[in-house]
Amino acid sequence: MASYDVIVIGSGPGGYVCAIRAAQLGLKTACVEGRETLGGTCLNIGCIPSKALLHASHMLHEAEHNFAAMGLKGATPKVDWAEMLSYKDEVVSQNTKGVEFLFKKNKIDRITGWASIPEAGKVKVGDEVHEAKHIVIATGSEPAALPGVTVDEQIVVTSTGALSLPKVPKSMVVIGGGVIGLELGSVYCRLGTKVTVVEYLDTLIPGSDAEVQRTFARMLKKQGLEIITGAAVSGVETTKTKAKVAYKMRKNGAEATLDADVVLVATGRRPFTKGLGLDALGVKMTDRGQIETDGQWRTNVPGLYAIGDVIAGPMLAHKAEDEGMAVAEVMAGQHGHVNYGVIPGVIYTHPEVASVGETEESLKAAGRAYKAGKFSFMGNGRARATFAAEGFVKILADAETDRILGAHIIGPSAGDLIHEICVAMEFGAAAEDLARTCHAHPTYSEAVREAALACGDGAIHA
Ligand code: NAI
Repeated sequence: MASYDVIVIGSGPGGYVCAIRAAQLGLKTACVEGRETLGGTCLNIGCIPSKALLHASHMLHEAEHNFAAMGLKGATPKVDWAEMLSYKDEVVSQNTKGVEFLFKKNKIDRITGWASIPEAGKVKVGDEVHEAKHIVIATGSEPAALPGVTVDEQIVVTSTGALSLPKVPKSMVVIGGGVIGLELGSVYCRLGTKVTVVEYLDTLIPGSDAEVQRTFARMLKKQGLEIITGAAVSGVETTKTKAKVAYKMRKNGAEATLDADVVLVATGRRPFTKGLGLDALGVKMTDRGQIETDGQWRTNVPGLYAIGDVIAGPMLAHKAEDEGMAVAEVMAGQHGHVNYGVIPGVIYTHPEVASVGETEESLKAAGRAYKAGKFSFMGNGRARATFAAEGFVKILADAETDRILGAHIIGPSAGDLIHEICVAMEFGAAAEDLARTCHAHPTYSEAVREAALACGDGAIHA
């Protein structure tokens, strides 16, 4: 029986980051992982492989739509799907091996197998029981089931199956107009698949800025995605090679069906805690099936912590990473902290969509007086030069104090641009602070500054 200061269960972005920070802080650390490779959903079957396919398919889109206008003539590249998949697999392998290297570098013991917690302070993997002063559950999430829909990962797939389809399908129905549905829907649309997104609510990416939602839907439609909102899927029937999706319009009850080669179910994820033995251990859960934690990620069982997708909050890799670092600090006797008010969200379509903090809708609902400074990428020279002048930056600031309360970007590199606003928010900056910061020309970042200027005396290039 090995004895540790910390055993982390799960090696996704929450778990592996927690293990590294715990080791850096001098704690004897092990990490248990059931998969053969480290990195969890994100590295193996989520964020990383999807970004590889988004990149490759975006390059194809550029070749098809923008190359000729720049004087780049010649035949448009053809898709070699098998090779695109091996490029994606190679990217995954580089990343998972990178985590292996970091574990070795930080002297973290890797334990392979599925863990359970037979009692407080003990972790069982196979026949072995290990002891630990602190145990961190970082077991992530799995696709949520949809009533009336059976996933076979061949014709009816989750994001996992969608990342390794045997061929590019002619048609695909995506159930759920959230992040996964739109990212993977975009990939296949660019590869030539006829993609139809069926969303239950009246808008895509519910909960985000309404103006972004409208602009995003318009852009996606222009790219060829068919979008049906306000439609409840009632079931999916499959034959050997095809599927039929039945749905009902929520407004008038009209029923219809859609035929497709592949159906992607992307209606959310749920915490993954199977096999851990939490019931027997008496771990308190929320009514949404998440592990209940206090402000320091402690569960009700002494020495047992939980982070990432298994607890409340957005199911995002970077939120889990932040919690991983913070809980390691707590276990080392320091004061870990996560600012849940400044967690950016990014959708890696083209253009990208990024947001942080409050939306106009949330501020209105709270009755807070705010001002909105908006700047269109049309007025940004760099964006015009790169066929990326659609979209905008919107900064929301307190009407009285000018303090930045939130930001919403749809446009080129939105996922990178959002971070200067996150840093500004961490420092409690006013829009004027951003507006008075010199921004290099010509960059997309100038659009952020212009939006900040628009919160004051006005943008220059609008
Ligand atoms: P999501 O919560 O983002 O979107 C699910 C969508 O499905 C919602 O719009 C919802 O209204 C809709 N829906 C639910 N039931 C439905 C039904 N019966 N019929 C039609 N539509 C229905 O969930 P998604 O896209 O599955 O992603 C899961 C998690 O993974 C999310 O928390 C997401 O943030 C995270 N993720 C984040 C990424 C990123 O940060 N870029 C990329 C991929 C996933």
